[in-house]
Amino acid sequence: MELWQRKDWVDVHGIPMIAAFSSNWGRIENFQARDDDLVICTYPKSGTTWISEIVDVVLRDGDTEKSKRDAIHIKVPMLEFTAPGQVPAGSLVLESVPSPRIIKTHLTVSLLPKSFWEKKCKYIYLARNPKDVTVSFYHFDKMNQLHPEPGTWEQYLEKFMQGKVAYGPWGLHVKDWWELRKKQNVLYLFYEDMIEDPKREIRKVMSFLGKDLPDLVVEKICQHTSFKAMKENPLTNYSSVPSAVMDQSISPFMRKGIAGDWKNHFTVAQSELFDEYYDRELAGTELSFRF
Ligand code: PPS
Repeated sequence: MELWQRKDWVDVHGIPMIAAFSSNWGRIENFQARDDDLVICTYPKSGTTWISEIVDVVLRDGDTEKSKRDAIHIKVPMLEFTAPGQVPAGSLVLESVPSPRIIKTHLTVSLLPKSFWEKKCKYIYLARNPKDVTVSFYHFDKMNQLHPEPGTWEQYLEKFMQGKVAYGPWGLHVKDWWELRKKQNVLYLFYEDMIEDPKREIRKVMSFLGKDLPDLVVEKICQHTSFKAMKENPLTNYSSVPSAVMDQSISPFMRKGIAGDWKNHFTVAQSELFDEYYDRELAGTELSFRF
């Protein structure tokens, strides 16, 4: 087993972090943002890959051929990603990416490199209801060798509600990014809205990015980024990532892609307990989620 496999989370300024990512954290703190960076931020398992592909193809005016130039994690590098000895760190890769860059991150507002605050970047934040996040994260922890084993579903749920998962408490994440809308240029989207009416949400992205594309092109983008298309597309389904990092024989990255899969996992008692946790997490904010 490699050194970075199945390691427990490492505390980074109070946030549990994937051990491999936590190494040499100075590379994140000293990361240099640029004015024209577009940052895609999410709590893990909230639809990052989906919105990333949408953004990429919108920026290419709906030209899906151009969007096939590379795999999603190459087109949209993840700022904090590193698997020492396997692939170059995301922060290093991003230094050599020409502007305008699209950057993926799961960082909390508190961990975002300071240079971002001095720049006029655009941010797209995508949030998902935490019951579905928990289910998706549980399956992801089972297959992702950079994460510790999640244990049983019951044990995992407990850890999630205690914030003892990668990137820490879900509520803090969604709330801090929600508040940031008041100071920074943030488009805040919801996974459930995208499932309900993907074209409407694609148009929001277009408007945020200053793109006005005809209905036929929006339809094409919608088809290109449907769950089925992205699951079959080797450039978006992470099949090029070595199984030493993501073992998709355990659980596919493109797992179900629906809203409400939590109903197949939570018992009634677990759901009630989680509702109380949800109320506590979002107390004092107007932010609310659809389940
Ligand atoms: S990661 O590892 O945190 O970056 O994962 P992320 O991409 O944020 O989330 C993965 C979940 O998003 C689902 N997904 C989609 N749903 C609907 N439509 C499309 N096109 C799509 N692409 C990815 C993916 O299936 C994961 O959710 P679950 O519930 O596990 O299926």
